[in-house]
Amino acid sequence: MAISDPTLVDNPIIYVNFAFERLTGYAQPEVVGRNCRFLQGPETKAEDVARIREAVARSERIEVDLLNYRKDGTPFWNRLLVAPVLDQNRQLRYCIASQHDVTLERETFVKLAAEQRELEASAADTKAQLADSTARLDFALKAGRLGSWTFDPGSRHLDASNGCKIVFGYAPDSEFGYAEFVGAIHPEDRAQVLAAIQATADTGCDYDIEYRVVTGEGELRWVAVRGELLTRADGTALTMTGFSTDITERKRVEEHRALLAGELTHRVKNTLATVSAIVNQTLRDAVSMSDARDTIGARIGSLAIAHDLLLRDEVDGATIADIVSGVMAPFDDGRGRLFSVDGPNIRLEPRVTLALSMALHELATNASKYGALSTAGGHVSITWSVGIGDGGRRLAFAWEESGGPTVTAPTRTGFGSRMIERVLAQHMRGTAKIEYRSTGVVFVIDAPL
Ligand SMILES: Cc1cc2nc3c(=O)[nH]c(=O)nc-3n(C[C@H](O)[C@H](O)[C@H](O)COP(=O)(O)O)c2cc1C
Repeated sequence: MAISDPTLVDNPIIYVNFAFERLTGYAQPEVVGRNCRFLQGPETKAEDVARIREAVARSERIEVDLLNYRKDGTPFWNRLLVAPVLDQNRQLRYCIASQHDVTLERETFVKLAAEQRELEASAADTKAQLADSTARLDFALKAGRLGSWTFDPGSRHLDASNGCKIVFGYAPDSEFGYAEFVGAIHPEDRAQVLAAIQATADTGCDYDIEYRVVTGEGELRWVAVRGELLTRADGTALTMTGFSTDITERKRVEEHRALLAGELTHRVKNTLATVSAIVNQTLRDAVSMSDARDTIGARIGSLAIAHDLLLRDEVDGATIADIVSGVMAPFDDGRGRLFSVDGPNIRLEPRVTLALSMALHELATNASKYGALSTAGGHVSITWSVGIGDGGRRLAFAWEESGGPTVTAPTRTGFGSRMIERVLAQHMRGTAKIEYRSTGVVFVIDAPL
């Protein structure tokens, strides 16, 4: 502490205690008789000094933190309290002051304030980065048509993103919790899906499953869902999180590929059977080996042409007559007795061309193995016409076998006939039907043109 006498010129110090000496480094004799401003220095703020000056002039008490300098020149923060002491006439008699070193407090405060600013800046930075990565994630999820979800196995609380809801056939902002999720799973797949979730929750194994869902509109979809279990530090289950995506299109392509692979195998077998039939039949009828060689070569060449027609994806489409003659050429005996072909000039789309070629090839192969083309007196009549029916022009196509062995319907439908009926009906958006009449196989198509 310090006491000054404001009744003397320049308000000099008349007393300082030991603590003052220890704080400032000045001994009492060095300071008594001087104004206390000697503690100020170059970095002391003038406005702090001015506030003290005004307070002393008005005999008011003041507390201020200001920068002072010790005798050795080291700076310190001085929390200075100056209070007036009045005499019985309420005149200012002494000034009494306390000096308290608050350097540490101020420095800590300044450091904390700097740290806080730094933290705030880094939090803002992290927030911006998070917003940026969330935006990227959203974009990636959207571009990949992925939905994200988190699921708490304990409470069975499901939190699904809008993308996830869309995958399951729900509107983006609709309610989609655990009950809705379970309800959307195809009943036949439900037990398997729930067991997989339980297994991940229990053992932490990856959740990776493909299953069917049925949307509110009754649409069947395939979804692929992958997820993993996040655990607490003690290993207990915290939450499951993952992605879901609609794989209906992929499944459709896979099914189509499987059908094509099956069909290809079947066709190769049939082709070999046809080649074998061609070879046997030609050798039986041939007058000489060289005649047989030429005929076999020609017939196998025709078979190749039919296959070209059959397998070329990018054909411009062919007329029905082209298709029929292309496919039937290998089965023709060259004397025009086996088939009759009759119908108007109609060009079909490439897809339909292929489907019809496949169907005719199948029918012809079967006929040459078991039907009208397997015996000398057999005949196939191939006719088509155009009529007006529901919603426009319609094609009526018929393949009618006669004169062959008595036909009995097969006990089980083979791949070939299934393929004929299904593929054609699908491609032509109409109906295609094989009938096993005792007099011969009849095949009819009814489709819009
Ligand atoms: C009793 C008393 C003690 C004071 N102690 C200090 C002090 O420790 N440090 C300081 O910078 N100023 C101190 N002052 C303030 C200065 O003495 C002075 O009043 C201030 O610098 C304003 O006056 P000026 O503008 O004439 O310098 C004290 C003043 C009084 C009356």
